[in-house]
Amino acid sequence: MNPLNHVAIIMDGNGRWGMKYKNSRNAGHKAGLNTVEKIIKETIKNKIKYLTLFAFSTENWKRPKKEIDYLFNLLENFLLNRIEDLHKKKIKLKILGSKKFSPKLNKLLNNSEKKTSKNSKLQINLALNYGSKSELINAFKKIKKNKKAITEKNIDINLQTKKIPDPDLLIRTGKTKRLSNFLLWQLAYAEIFFEKKLWPSFNEKDYNRIIKEYKKIKRNFGKI
Ligand code: FPP
Repeated sequence: MNPLNHVAIIMDGNGRWGMKYKNSRNAGHKAGLNTVEKIIKETIKNKIKYLTLFAFSTENWKRPKKEIDYLFNLLENFLLNRIEDLHKKKIKLKILGSKKFSPKLNKLLNNSEKKTSKNSKLQINLALNYGSKSELINAFKKIKKNKKAITEKNIDINLQTKKIPDPDLLIRTGKTKRLSNFLLWQLAYAEIFFEKKLWPSFNEKDYNRIIKEYKKIKRNFGKI
């Protein structure tokens, strides 16, 4: 059976779910946050050490301001209300992406990372204002500046995901089959599962079914 250390998730379909059931995209984001909570619990139950969630891409700034404001408000409240409990559960929070938000949110994100930095039960990487191409460009720039060779190891250690093992499993909900500029380097050998359900409808049972299927796969990493 395959070990499973790191699950990455593209949580797609909030908007469609919200329009379908509540006639509001933002209601879909709110419901999506409930799924986040369920999946965190289930990740701990499955003794998985890393969970990376794509919450906001660099491309998502093109959305209407009202939706962007709603999403960041949701995030702010989530951190304010839940960080103490996450900390108690020994969860470490790390932000991937560039923190170019309001001073209030930047401070909250930094404080949440700092508070939980020594925890080791589960590390949640929240990708916010994240784009993989820009992460790679920054890594190459750092390598050039330090006059180092372009090697796999030097790229790895100059990415924001340094010290984090690559994801073993990527799940994308919401029917669409694409990577959307998410962890392009790190997903090189990940097993990918595209799930038809929209993120707010995705549940523990779906997650465990995928994990079970993943564990049965023969992972060759290029060998035979
Ligand atoms: C993609 O669905 C989802 C997002 C851009 C935001 C993800 C946010 C959450 C799950 C809730 C907040 C999470 C935290 C951790 C506070 P979409 O809106 O692109 O869906 P669509 O494809 O149906 O339009």
